[in-house]
Amino acid sequence: MESFTDVPRVEESSDIGQKQDRVVTEEEWLQKWKMRQIGFHKEQGHPILRKYLDVLLLNGRSGLRIFFPLCGKAVEMKWLADMGHYVVGVELCECALKEFFTEQDLSYSEETIPGISGAKVFKSTSGNISLYCCSIYDLSSYADLMLSVMERSCCYLLVSVLYDSNKHKGPPFYVPEAEIKSLFGKVCEIKCLEKVDDFSDQHKAWGLDYFLEVTYLLTLKSVP
Ligand SMILES: C[S@@+](CC[C@H](N)C(=O)[O-])C[C@H]1O[C@@H](n2cnc3c(N)ncnc32)[C@H](O)[C@@H]1O
Repeated sequence: MESFTDVPRVEESSDIGQKQDRVVTEEEWLQKWKMRQIGFHKEQGHPILRKYLDVLLLNGRSGLRIFFPLCGKAVEMKWLADMGHYVVGVELCECALKEFFTEQDLSYSEETIPGISGAKVFKSTSGNISLYCCSIYDLSSYADLMLSVMERSCCYLLVSVLYDSNKHKGPPFYVPEAEIKSLFGKVCEIKCLEKVDDFSDQHKAWGLDYFLEVTYLLTLKSVP
């Protein structure tokens, strides 16, 4: 993989740590796309990314390389590319990536990736969006991968969720701050930007009585 200057976010924290009790398998994700159970996709983009765009871009930096792990067909990839940034994504489901290019009206080419069996990269003809179709775990473990692509000035926007994990097993998976600290705390400053109530009827139907969305900004600690 290439080296990145910016890592915008981890979607809903699902795979940051590895929960022993409940894992959504690759087959289940592919099935969700096939059955169109894609309520996680936000057609207008993620409001948290909109809200913290200035924080992420450090007030208007341009020409950044922005990494979207678990990208699905996130529409933000198009608007960040339109702003002059270079976008790299990783996603299991080939149909999600093809839908992205079709829905965003972008032409693209498709290449295999030597060294990762079955993996492909889809590149926009304009050259500023490259989406890898493979498992992120084919590249590395999630947290290690995220750390390996962060450069000195990188801002990593991480959204996690909190709820009573005795009442719902996920996804999205419950990731407490302690786990984020244990995965990233040695090398990153971790700042909580906000903790908001995101409770909805869907969460109620899962048997929960609260559901919080917590947004962190991770930056590399300065080397002494
Ligand atoms: C919560 S969704 C994010 C969707 C995206 N924000 C969008 O708007 O379409 C998580 C995505 O990660 C993908 N995924 C799950 N496990 C993966 C893995 N191991 N490697 C790459 N992609 C994965 C799923 O197929 C799914 O599209």
